[in-house]
Amino acid sequence: MATMAPPFFLLCWLLRAASSAFPEEPLPLNFIPTEVVRRHPVFLGRPHRTWLRQEPLHIQRILQVNRTLYIGARDDLFRVELDIVAGEEMFYSKKRTWESNKNDIRICRMKGKHEDECRNFMKVLLSRQGGLFVCGTNAFNPLCANYTGDTLEMVGDTVSGMARCPYDPKHANVARFAEGNLFTATVTDFLAIDAVIYRSLGDSLALRTVKHDSKWFREPYFVSAVEWGPHIYFFFREIAMEFNYLEKVMVSRVARVCKRDLGGSQRVLEKQWTSFLKARLNCSVPGDSHFYFNLLHSTSPVIRMHGRDIILGVFSTPANSIPGSAVCAFDMEQLGAVFEGRFKEQKSPESIWTPVPDEVIPKPRPGGCAVQGSRFNSSNSFPDEMLNFVKTHPLMDEAVPSLGQRPWIVRTMVRYQLNKIVVDTEAGPYRNQTVVFLGSSRGSILKFLIMPNQDNSVTNSNIFLEELEGFNPDKCAEDSLQARQLLSLTLDRASHTLLLAFPSCVVRVPVARCQLYSRCMKNCIASRDPYCGWTRGSTCSFLRPGTRLPFEQDVEQGNVAHLGDCDG
Ligand SMILES: *[C@@H]1O[C@H](CO)[C@@H](O)[C@H](O)[C@H]1NC(C)=O
Ligand SMILES: *[C@@H]1O[C@H](CO)[C@@H](O)[C@H](O)[C@H]1NC(C)=O
Ligand SMILES: *[C@@H]1O[C@H](CO)[C@@H](O)[C@H](O)[C@H]1NC(C)=O
Ligand SMILES: *[C@@H]1O[C@H](CO)[C@@H](O)[C@H](O)[C@H]1NC(C)=O
Ligand SMILES: *[C@@H]1O[C@H](CO)[C@@H](O)[C@H](O)[C@H]1NC(C)=O
Repeated sequence: MATMAPPFFLLCWLLRAASSAFPEEPLPLNFIPTEVVRRHPVFLGRPHRTWLRQEPLHIQRILQVNRTLYIGARDDLFRVELDIVAGEEMFYSKKRTWESNKNDIRICRMKGKHEDECRNFMKVLLSRQGGLFVCGTNAFNPLCANYTGDTLEMVGDTVSGMARCPYDPKHANVARFAEGNLFTATVTDFLAIDAVIYRSLGDSLALRTVKHDSKWFREPYFVSAVEWGPHIYFFFREIAMEFNYLEKVMVSRVARVCKRDLGGSQRVLEKQWTSFLKARLNCSVPGDSHFYFNLLHSTSPVIRMHGRDIILGVFSTPANSIPGSAVCAFDMEQLGAVFEGRFKEQKSPESIWTPVPDEVIPKPRPGGCAVQGSRFNSSNSFPDEMLNFVKTHPLMDEAVPSLGQRPWIVRTMVRYQLNKIVVDTEAGPYRNQTVVFLGSSRGSILKFLIMPNQDNSVTNSNIFLEELEGFNPDKCAEDSLQARQLLSLTLDRASHTLLLAFPSCVVRVPVARCQLYSRCMKNCIASRDPYCGWTRGSTCSFLRPGTRLPFEQDVEQGNVAHLGDCDG
């Protein structure tokens, strides 16, 4: 009866969780009616209104640069002006087609790939010195090129996309520029076996992670990369190597490298990172039976809140577990400190993983950045003993604790998974409220107000303000789970809108819908929406940041006891 064990365990966990430590999960203060949502402007890959049906877009990436939105799709690159007021549809001002040549397509087909896959999917879209840097899968033979930002013309030659862009459009990859170098996390081969964090295109030589070493990576899924101090931090999930379980367990990780790493000596880690270290991210609900959200889906950039640099991550449970998602916050100082802690090791293939005793750690400390003016002013002058240690001990012993030791937001027992996040830390008329927008696997958007605690240190209480549909089946594509897959969620501050990228469309959704509460002051105040206030003329208005208009709102309390009922 071994198969009975998991459900029974889960049931016990559920009963205990429901009764004790598990946070309450309130409903949103407002569900936004579908007819409101269906009027939001949509980008469908068209230059103007037309009845012509066209090929599906297969959007891969979007990039906002000032007032322009670039959209990288399959074989096509679009430019959309965000300031041109959209009615029901946003049109492109420029479109450029970049298709794979016949020979690349022929080879791709010969290798057994489907015709629909042997196309050019734009998986890297970055801003670079006034222009764009674009990489496409190019029929499983990735290529990169510079493009002008205004006319979308290719400038110069193409360069190989290997280790910069995946071969398969289905693969998750990450790319960003820092100090003139391109940092990428992807796979370097057709079969997608060789996962890599790679640095290239700068003045210093290209560097990569050690090849085919499961201590460094085991089937990673890359999520994001941020620059912080002298390091680039990569967020991802992978199969844990530190558990002695028979089944594969996914965990979430953060890895870091020194931006200016120059690789190891000729004997150890030559042309490879000498600073690569990784640690587990701990997003869990404490209690009798400690419950982990092990799958990282996306992160915010580093944001400044209450005097700290923090990063928010959206996590979920695996598909075969209780459905659940959580948002955890990590303090970048605490995160960095984990890399100064103990290393983890497995002494022999059968033994369990244990912390490395301090006295056997070589000097200088493995994984550090070379310091100008010191004895080790370049990473290739590090002693071999130290380099060997880094090579064999990339994993830290401690997991990065989440801020407040518990998630800020938890959603369980719902049919969707949360997988995208965008944060507005300057919400409301005084620009001092924090609103978190979350995207779900069903294309819906959840909006939370993050409330500071009394001591103003660790925020972990929140108000669930709104839930609304983001995907528009009338305009975007036939309704399906795949069509509703939210590729990215971004905030356009200047126009107070969210940009939701789906495979077949981009939907532009205002951050608030104050007019819905216009009929009655009580509804307006009760919405607790920091973007809305009751203003002169008896209406619920969107409050521009820094507005001089007199208004009433009560975001903190939502106290409406003194207000009369709204009729009907
Ligand atoms: C974006 O705007 C900033 C400030 O107005 C300007 O300095 C920058 O050149 C612009 N970037 C591009 C790519 O146009
Ligand atoms: C792309 O642009 C960058 C920065 O302007 C330049 O250094 C690089 O040589 C260009 N690459 C190609 C292939 O033209
Ligand atoms: C490192 O120090 C050595 C000698 O102290 C010097 O010759 C070299 O130029 C330095 N390298 C860097 C990258 O500063
Ligand atoms: C994760 O954090 C919780 C709460 O602080 C702690 O009890 C637990 O041991 C941590 N797990 C790991 C793997 O560090
Ligand atoms: C934001 O600023 C307003 C006006 O100064 C103040 O009343 C309010 O308490 C502030 N809210 C937060 C969350 O800091």
